Amino acid sequence: MYIHMKLFYPFLFILFVSSCQVRQSNQHTKKSQEFSQGAVVTAHPLASQIGVDILQQNGNVVDAAVAVQFALAVVYPNAGNIGGGGFMVYRDHSGETTSLDFREKAPGKAHRDMYLDKAGEPITDLSLDGQLAAGVPGSVAGMEEAHKKFGSLAWTTLLAPAIALAEQGFALTARQAKEFNAHQERFKRLNKNGAEIIRERPWRAGDIFIQKQLANTLKRIAEKGSAGFYTGETADLIVAEMKRGNGIISHADLKNYRAVWRQPIVGSYKNYSIISMPPPSSGGIALLALLQSVEKYPLQEWGFQSDSTVRAMVEAERRVYADRATHLGDPDFYNVPVAYLTNKAFNQERMKQVSLKKATPSDQVKAAKFPGYESEETTHFCIVDNKGNAVSLTTTLNGSYGAGVWVDGAGFLLNNEMDDFSVKPGTPNLYGLLGGKANAIQPEKRMLSAMSPTIVEENGKLKMVIGTPGGSTIITSVFQGILNVLEFDMDAQASVSAPRFHHQWKPDRIDVEEGAIATDIRQRLEKDGYTQYKRGNIGRMENIIVLPNGKLQVGADPRGDDFAAGY
Ligand code: DON
Repeated sequence: MYIHMKLFYPFLFILFVSSCQVRQSNQHTKKSQEFSQGAVVTAHPLASQIGVDILQQNGNVVDAAVAVQFALAVVYPNAGNIGGGGFMVYRDHSGETTSLDFREKAPGKAHRDMYLDKAGEPITDLSLDGQLAAGVPGSVAGMEEAHKKFGSLAWTTLLAPAIALAEQGFALTARQAKEFNAHQERFKRLNKNGAEIIRERPWRAGDIFIQKQLANTLKRIAEKGSAGFYTGETADLIVAEMKRGNGIISHADLKNYRAVWRQPIVGSYKNYSIISMPPPSSGGIALLALLQSVEKYPLQEWGFQSDSTVRAMVEAERRVYADRATHLGDPDFYNVPVAYLTNKAFNQERMKQVSLKKATPSDQVKAAKFPGYESEETTHFCIVDNKGNAVSLTTTLNGSYGAGVWVDGAGFLLNNEMDDFSVKPGTPNLYGLLGGKANAIQPEKRMLSAMSPTIVEENGKLKMVIGTPGGSTIITSVFQGILNVLEFDMDAQASVSAPRFHHQWKPDRIDVEEGAIATDIRQRLEKDGYTQYKRGNIGRMENIIVLPNGKLQVGADPRGDDFAAGY
């Protein structure tokens, strides 16, 4: 098996072109593909194919997810990772659900003001670039935990494809070559000892990217499980990397890291059940609150991105993000009022006061008060196996290529997830998000996330597996993806291709992607107080829909190299 993979993967890219089982969905006009047994949608064709290979070897959905997570760490270094973290939402064919939190944690030596200067002002980029930006990575512990509970194939089988890709290399897509080149200056500045991605000659599409150090790290993980990462040689290399910069992750931090199984957020929207990620992600709570907020509006009748639809969605987003900034943080450290925030009556009552004629200025919208309470780059994949088990998994280094630091000798990138904490109340993070006490830095605490891996049921049956990267826009993108299918009759491909918009309370503006919201509607919105900001791509969403005939309809976001495969 291992030998076979080693020989096979370097040439896999070429095989894609001729493969009839794997079909690319790269244009806006592309129709949804359908598969009958299993489907895998990820940000990279090679990772999708590896997932399908595992399913075809009789692996289950979690086996495939583990193999895909490790493969993405090799072929999609922007966000695929072993040096970051993520969340997995799982639903088995009988309807049992759970979620796995393998989010990074603040190191033991972290403290509230660690990114502030003497005058109490945030030091530019300190929580984004370099060793100090990194939280204690969670991905390897997460994969081991998922495999222990649900896996059926051998751990080494799941690591083998990633090891082969790292060792033998793989052909870069045009987009990847361009991105590698665009980041060279940052990589050189942050990696004084060099890194395999750094080279003088520009990268070109089709160049083979070999990562020997990463291959060796993956081999240690294959051999020893998470101990091959959190202890021994890899841990020594991580701690040595910390000392090369201003980092504070210690051997004890690594050794003590644990992934945590959590009760997912489950709630209803009409006759659908929404199953999504609980804190320390804000995703599940905010997504459910958004859906509940718009449930009573006749969205279907109003239509996709119609004037009223946009107003209702934006006004809901403004309020839900205000609550997010105040009430959400790591539940192990902060008492998150989950029941209040996901109470349908509360969300719907609040929307009754809202005018859809004029924008409510965000300054007039304050987070709700509850009795007893004070107060771009990530990647998503969806997998369904032939038994109907489903995984929705979002994983990240936070910014593209994380902290920009490769652990020297271990060949993987450190995350810059510490920036997801509220570095200072009132100071926006990389995504413009605000926070306060709930999400202040404390040792061992998990930073708040927006990642929203989600599964939707219809009348108790699996309906949809969906998620996306996009920082603060993740929640509103998943919100739109779900409504696109449930209200606006889109198929899987259309639901992820459709242009998107976003409001996050502050800054008080609608972010509008190219092609989103018709011009005449945008003009009316402007007149009624809705400031708009035109921007580039929002997210890279993946979606698998289970059709009434049991077929799996897949949608891979055309904004990237995203790819749907199946059999
Ligand atoms: O956990 C979060 O919410 C962020 N670290 C996600 C970052 C992200 O999605 C960047 N991708 N474009």
